[in-house]
Amino acid sequence: MTKTMTMWFLLVSLSFIYAVATANTQIKITNNPADKLVAAINENRTAHKVSALTDNPGLACIALQYIKAYQGECDAVGGSDGKKPPESHFAEVFAPNCGVEASTLAPITGRFLACQTKYVHAPEAFSDILIRNQKSIDILYSKNHTQVGAAVTGTDGGSPYFWCVLFSSGKPNNTFTFESGVAKITKPGCFSGANDECSGASDWSPLNGMWVFVTSVLIAMGFALSL
Ligand SMILES: *[C@@H]1O[C@H](CO)[C@@H](O)[C@H](O)[C@H]1NC(C)=O
Ligand SMILES: *[C@@H]1O[C@H](CO)[C@@H](O)[C@H](O)[C@H]1NC(C)=O
Ligand SMILES: *[C@@H]1O[C@H](CO)[C@@H](O)[C@H](O)[C@H]1NC(C)=O
Repeated sequence: MTKTMTMWFLLVSLSFIYAVATANTQIKITNNPADKLVAAINENRTAHKVSALTDNPGLACIALQYIKAYQGECDAVGGSDGKKPPESHFAEVFAPNCGVEASTLAPITGRFLACQTKYVHAPEAFSDILIRNQKSIDILYSKNHTQVGAAVTGTDGGSPYFWCVLFSSGKPNNTFTFESGVAKITKPGCFSGANDECSGASDWSPLNGMWVFVTSVLIAMGFALSL
């Protein structure tokens, strides 16, 4: 009798734990600045009656490699002597680094790139630094794009910060596909579309996260003592 009840109790608690565990993995809050950037772009496009774009993680991973090509050099972005990685890098460097099949690369129909020393959140990055003239507005609302990929990174997890958005006209289903079938997450840096929880540029390293925690505890304690 008691044995049966114990068994029941065990089963019920196990299924409860299981339910909680699966709920946790399903309700995955994505806290990724690159995902948020794509959301801002799509919201703005749909408000302007242009179609929302598919977020392609393969394209987004390539956007992250595009940023890495600058090796943290903010000065090389934009301006009259702005540099741009050679087009051949897409197939020869970026795609292999991402595990994206080079044969599935599609035309890039637009790109946004910005860099600054101060970190700003996705909505501000979108409206204040990426969209800054008529040319960028034309690219934003272009009907040539079918898909998008975004990446956000800081050099060594800190300033300067880079934002990159690539647009493409390829079919989302069969372009920029991963050889392994799943997104290859490359760190440091965040890219969109991969369901990857990748928090803001300032705390990529778990150690930094710890410091934020420790500092806030210290500050809270300081206040408590002075009262
Ligand atoms: C879309 O973005 C443009 C450029 O930043 C801005 O002027 C406009 O107000 C935005 N529209 C909406 C609905 O957010
Ligand atoms: C869209 O594609 C056409 C044809 O390639 C090109 O002429 C046009 O400039 C593109 N539009 C934008 C906004 O890039
Ligand atoms: C893309 O893939 C999804 C899911 O596999 C499928 O439902 C959809 O019909 C496909 N779209 C195209 C254009 O092939």
